[in-house]
Amino acid sequence: MKLITVKNYDEMSQKASSFILDLIQSKENPVLGLATGSTPEGLYRYLIEAYKEGKASFQHVTTFNLDEYVGIERADANSYYSFMQENFFKHVDISPSQTFLPNGKAADLQAECEDYEQLISNASQIDIQVLGLGLNGHIGFNEPGTPFSIRTHVVDLEESTREANSRFFESIDEVPTQAITMGIGTIMESKMILLLVSGEQKAEALVRLFTNEVSEEFPASILQNHPNVVIIADEAASKHL
Ligand code: F6R
Repeated sequence: MKLITVKNYDEMSQKASSFILDLIQSKENPVLGLATGSTPEGLYRYLIEAYKEGKASFQHVTTFNLDEYVGIERADANSYYSFMQENFFKHVDISPSQTFLPNGKAADLQAECEDYEQLISNASQIDIQVLGLGLNGHIGFNEPGTPFSIRTHVVDLEESTREANSRFFESIDEVPTQAITMGIGTIMESKMILLLVSGEQKAEALVRLFTNEVSEEFPASILQNHPNVVIIADEAASKHL
């Protein structure tokens, strides 16, 4: 794992955007794995800026998001589908038919997970998978205890994760209890993983990422076994390293 330490959130976001822009400028049909949450918002702002300045086009880019809540409509402001439209897709020239998220309202969730895996394998391989880091070490919504080999699946969200995400909802009761997430097995097949970590509240998790033995109790620890991981962390997140 290669660690790049930067000053703050803004520098982290800019640095992350340079990896994505290099890829889309050098590859004909790049495939991106994307995340939601607070961590990548700045990255998306930099990508939008590059597009608006004519420095990048997303016309030939395909994207797969890590996860989606179960039980809320895509049109709901809290769906990850809406998050991606608002924070990225609607501002650039990406083709809507090339942006994929699991459908958390699918009638058959198991079939939805299998279809999502199929779509990813049809696209060959994810070139860069962007990840944020959960306080408990989750990546995607793969909570502690999730088998490393698992593919896209339905998860019960941990109470701590629902609490952390309740800031986007009116109250914690509105936070869904389940999500569909890419599995760790799926994530690990990406060519490159770009893990973004910002803020003091992530400092302890970042220490564990480097010091923990590879264990399902701390899902992100599996990244130690991936051949091409770049971690971009700001000063606050890396203060205990
Ligand atoms: C989001 C995701 C999650 C987040 C993680 C960190 O698609 O899969 O694993 O990356 O919960 O969230 P933030 O960035 O809000 O701190």
